[in-house]
Amino acid sequence: MNIVIVDDNAVNLMLMAALARSATGIEPVRFDDPVAGLAWCREHGADLIVVDFMMPGMDGHQFIQAVRDTPRLVDVPVVMVTATGQSAVRRKALEIGATDFLTKPVDSTEIKLRLRNLLQLRQAQNLLRDRAAHLAEEVRVATEAIVLRERDLIVRLSRAAEFRDPETGGHIQRMAHYAASIARHMGEPESYAQALLTAAPMHDVGKLGTPDHILLKSGRLDPDELVEMHRHAEIGGRILADTDSPLLRLACEIAETHHEKFDGSGYPRGLQGEQIPLGGRIVAVADVFDALNSTRPYKKAWPLDESRAYIEEHSGRHFDPRCVQAFVAGWNDVLAIRARFPD
Ligand code: C2E
Ligand code: SIN
Ligand code: SIN
Ligand code: FE
Ligand code: FE
Repeated sequence: MNIVIVDDNAVNLMLMAALARSATGIEPVRFDDPVAGLAWCREHGADLIVVDFMMPGMDGHQFIQAVRDTPRLVDVPVVMVTATGQSAVRRKALEIGATDFLTKPVDSTEIKLRLRNLLQLRQAQNLLRDRAAHLAEEVRVATEAIVLRERDLIVRLSRAAEFRDPETGGHIQRMAHYAASIARHMGEPESYAQALLTAAPMHDVGKLGTPDHILLKSGRLDPDELVEMHRHAEIGGRILADTDSPLLRLACEIAETHHEKFDGSGYPRGLQGEQIPLGGRIVAVADVFDALNSTRPYKKAWPLDESRAYIEEHSGRHFDPRCVQAFVAGWNDVLAIRARFPD
């Protein structure tokens, strides 16, 4: 805590400093020049300012106005010293933002009590401000913890789904990274690519609702079984529906729409073009490319170039051409991701 005293009269300055010191135990910083005093306060901050009214260069009103116009000094208690009878001067000072007055000739007991009170007021102010900052920090930390917990839950939900799914963890990782690469090459922000990395692994969470004899069948599915299998998109949407979490909303959108096709021939709703949410359009490319390129209980793995050719051939039919373009533009990413996440 500091006290600043500004008075052009050397005797008054000394007297006021002695009173302040004896009242508070603080050695005040003294200025006989208001301009220098103001500059010091602006640089160092102040906890209590005592300022004379009549001074050359800058009077008490101008000084207080300048203090109140300085963001770091707006709430510092400022006491103006006036001669008795100057009631118009005091009224104006109050309007500008003076906190209190001291009158000359001085009553030393009264002055000491007032200075002590004002300094206590300041102390309480500082305490409140520190406490507010402390609370804000606590809220920030708590929010961060919630976000981490949310990610944690999402990862576990994906893991639960993977346990039932004959598709491998490698597939989940690869398709999520392909999806992020497509998003980046479409010019989407990095935050969106990161969200895809977390949300895309849940695209087939609806397979939790698919009966084992269908999910685990080692040959082609018959038409009825295919109908049952296709329900996984709608079921995934229901598992992830109705959430405030932006990440889960994205996961829901992906689970629901990753088998929609750009020309409207997909499922479950037959959405067309940009009716299909961006996440669904991106994951369609990533998922099918990796499915083609992987061994499934019902099919052999396709060679890399044939898988890529399939994606390009179906641009505008199964897939959003912008997503296909971005996928091809990120071909080096695709190769690196494939090498990084083997089956
Ligand atoms: P998945 O194996 O991950 O395949 C995802 C998507 O990749 C498929 O969606 C399809 O669009 C494409 N895809 C995969 N393999 C081939 C292929 O050999 N040829 C072509 N043209 N496209 C392919 P789809 O068809 O809606 O299937 C969704 C999921 O249903 C598949 O995910 C898989 O888990 C299952 N499924 C589909 N057909 C069969 C099947 O005949 N037998 C079995 N056991 N499961 C199947
Ligand atoms: C985007 O590219 O940022 C979204 C527009 C779209 O739905 O394709
Ligand atoms: C598939 O689901 O087998 C791909 C069909 C298509 O050409 O869009
Ligand atoms: Fe799927
Ligand atoms: Fe998949």
